[in-house]
Amino acid sequence: MIGVFDSGFGGMTILRDLQKSLPEYDYLYLGDNARAPYGSRSYETIYRYTLQCVRELFARGCPLVILACNTASARALRSIQQQVLPFEFPDRRVLGIIRPTAEEIGAFSKSGHIGIFATAGTVSSGSYLIEINHFYPELKVTQHACPMWVPLVEYGESQSQGADYFVQKEVDALLAEDPEIDTILLACTHYPLLEKAIRKALPQNVNLVFQGDIVAAKTVDYLNRHPEIESRLSKSGKTRFLTTDTAKFFEKGAFLFGMRDISAESLTF
Ligand code: DGL
Repeated sequence: MIGVFDSGFGGMTILRDLQKSLPEYDYLYLGDNARAPYGSRSYETIYRYTLQCVRELFARGCPLVILACNTASARALRSIQQQVLPFEFPDRRVLGIIRPTAEEIGAFSKSGHIGIFATAGTVSSGSYLIEINHFYPELKVTQHACPMWVPLVEYGESQSQGADYFVQKEVDALLAEDPEIDTILLACTHYPLLEKAIRKALPQNVNLVFQGDIVAAKTVDYLNRHPEIESRLSKSGKTRFLTTDTAKFFEKGAFLFGMRDISAESLTF
């Protein structure tokens, strides 16, 4: 199976596009709902939680795990790739979603000014600035943390007046910092659920970029280039869901993310 990890439900916005582009594969989704949100936690804690979940996905038979969470990708990916895999799991792979997004983002902007909405953890890691600068040193990138957005989504309030208020507030703050921004990346997997409110708050000439289709296209490319991993993936088109919270809690929340009629399995560490 391809393991797909998120702190909670957000990774489903990535899973959906993976399933669309690569429908023949089997997926094992793990949401660490009992310990979400990760966005405001320390580096050490995010690393520890993410590694524990990656180990679980490996133990359940995933040769490849995608961290479908920007915060986990920003805080834990590099350490897992450099300090854990070579010594304990030399034949397994863990991929994140920041680098693939950074590789593509330059193609969307005409003004050369990009805005990024993300969690506080992703913003303070500086990962997007480093990665985008590597591929597009000429781009001016302005990041902005939106601490209220994940709770709004998780409480099912993404289409409420409360959401409109908090979205407008963050959009205004970002555009005040750089009025030449013509492209905004939603660099948190929860944020696509606020698309309506964000579009309402944005001037019409500003593009919104979503990560799901970028990550899916990059995964297709990765599997083409890595037959040694691809050949170990099972292909019956099935998806299973694991959560660190109760199955009932997960199934209810997943509904908000468009995953209908799923059944989840609860796990405790
Ligand atoms: N979905 C996560 C991301 O992409 C953030 C949610 C959280 O704070 O746990 O960054």
